[in-house]
Amino acid sequence: MFYEPRRRNHGLPHNPLKAIVAPRPIGWISTLSADGVANLAPYSFFNLVSETPDIVMFSSHGLKDTVRNVMATGEFVCNLPTLELMEAVNLSSKPIPPGESEFDLAELERAPSRLVKPPRVAAAPCALECVWIETTELRDRHGATTGRHITYGEVIGVHVDEAYVEDGRLRTDRMRSLARCGYFDYAWVETLRSVPRPT
Ligand SMILES: Cc1cc2nc3c(=O)[nH]c(=O)nc-3n(C[C@H](O)[C@H](O)[C@H](O)COP(=O)(O)O)c2cc1C
Repeated sequence: MFYEPRRRNHGLPHNPLKAIVAPRPIGWISTLSADGVANLAPYSFFNLVSETPDIVMFSSHGLKDTVRNVMATGEFVCNLPTLELMEAVNLSSKPIPPGESEFDLAELERAPSRLVKPPRVAAAPCALECVWIETTELRDRHGATTGRHITYGEVIGVHVDEAYVEDGRLRTDRMRSLARCGYFDYAWVETLRSVPRPT
């Protein structure tokens, strides 16, 4: 099969793109509103895009509450979900009024962050405390605006549950780190194979 995205000529009932670029990590992003309400939402257009300095990004389709909060407060936390948190992740994507908290909706315990104000998800084994760098609206190849907003943040603090550290290495497989695939599909890490790079 070959198709051109703008022509949507894949002939399938649903766009397969997100099943092709899969799995994608999930940034489960906690923020505080200007009024101090704790917001939490999953973003799978999310990734680590630089190490030293450590920089993450996520893309919002429209200016959602998460982006508004980051722009208002300059801080966010990327919680990294695991298989046991899958239902809570999904529930926290529900659109609710800005005055309500997805932490309460999904019955998630908050844990304090060390260097930023938004709380962490206590049950997430890893979390990245971030300071906002910038938010830019994506343009397409013709220079037209898209309504997709990319937010970059620098990681200034990292939480790791040491229960998953063995022989000095973090066991992503034992954590069962959660990822997003296409449609309504999730995946999780079960197997690792270490292949040293050629010299
Ligand atoms: C697993 C998963 C991944 C998602 N990824 C994104 C994403 O990358 N960008 C986006 O705009 N919405 C994404 N969504 C939808 C948002 O989570 C949803 O619109 C949410 O209500 C936004 O919350 P907020 O307004 O509090 O930021 C995703 C939903 C799920 C379940």
